[in-house]
Amino acid sequence: MREPQLVKADGLPDRVTIYEVGPRDGLQNESAIVDVAVKAEFIRRLLDAGLTTVETTSFVHPKWVPQLADAAELLDQLELPAGVRAPVLVPNERGLDRALAAGVREIAIFASATETFAAKNLNSTLDDQFAMFTPTIQRALAEGLSVRGYVSMCYGDPWKGDVPIDQVVKVGARLVDLGCHELSLGDTIGVATPGQVGALIAAFGAAGVGVDKLAVHFHDTYGQALANTLTALRDGVTTVDSSAGGLGGCPYAESATGNLATEDLLWQLNGLGIETGVDLEKLVSTSTWMAEQLGKPSASRVVQALAG
Ligand code: HMG
Ligand code: MG
Repeated sequence: MREPQLVKADGLPDRVTIYEVGPRDGLQNESAIVDVAVKAEFIRRLLDAGLTTVETTSFVHPKWVPQLADAAELLDQLELPAGVRAPVLVPNERGLDRALAAGVREIAIFASATETFAAKNLNSTLDDQFAMFTPTIQRALAEGLSVRGYVSMCYGDPWKGDVPIDQVVKVGARLVDLGCHELSLGDTIGVATPGQVGALIAAFGAAGVGVDKLAVHFHDTYGQALANTLTALRDGVTTVDSSAGGLGGCPYAESATGNLATEDLLWQLNGLGIETGVDLEKLVSTSTWMAEQLGKPSASRVVQALAG
């Protein structure tokens, strides 16, 4: 299979952690319910391709995201090899109870940077979302779990438009203060451009949240995800969220399309000689297989170029 020519560039990390969100962010937007055995096989194949961090599912209200109502059953079908991290999304204490019962060791809380998305995604307000997160994070930490924090709508909101940068930093810093070990900065509707990304990373730095605590999470609606990722890497970020095959979107965010495709990310990182431990060929074959299961072609440009 074709590989990019390796030419290193200055000012980039030697190694990047790919935080794979395909089984969660990717599948949550699919309206036809995917069989739990297919989800389990998808995750097994992702792990076999060398991914070591895979967000597997969500313990949200099953009526809000019916696709992931089988979270406990899915985890029951998986045998995770040692060293693999398999975080799940949890919004509240009820979700935490369910995750703990399923043996989860790592959760991700997801906050909104805007009032509108807090209402639509969490049935809450910008302030009240913390009343839900605080006891959830405290209990999770007391149980020895590690907690990631997402901030959504960091760069633009479909209802309100521009989002003030200090509002994003305030929400993110609050999650870090509550004990989140990592913050993932979500471009939920894929509108960010590189200047914005650099400005947000700098603003977090000025507020005491350094790049060692930051991850980036780009959806690719406007085709900016790779440019934005490269900007974040140059600024020192070393954890990048992506979704195999470019699956994804958020059912509660109008105009959100798929995440940055893991294969597209990997093509760039391989070309730059940045280590990930992930096998591109196995990943392309996984996404080709998954596209067949879903009955539609993969959105990833690299999968389209290499498959077949
Ligand atoms: P609510 O209706 O306000 O919930 O939903 P509530 O607290 O009022 O409870 C109502 C009933 O739901 C109660 O049952 C609860 O027990 C039950 P009753 O007493 O009436 O029988 N309930 C639950 N059941 C199972 N699991 C739970 C749960 N919680 C309550 N966890 C809630 C509030 C937060 C639960 C709801 O709004 C929700 O589930 N939202 C999730 C939406 C979602 O998953 N969105 C997609 C993920 S976010 C995303 O994609 C963005 C991201 O990728 C980053 C980016 O791109 O920016 C992360
Ligand atoms: Mg997302």
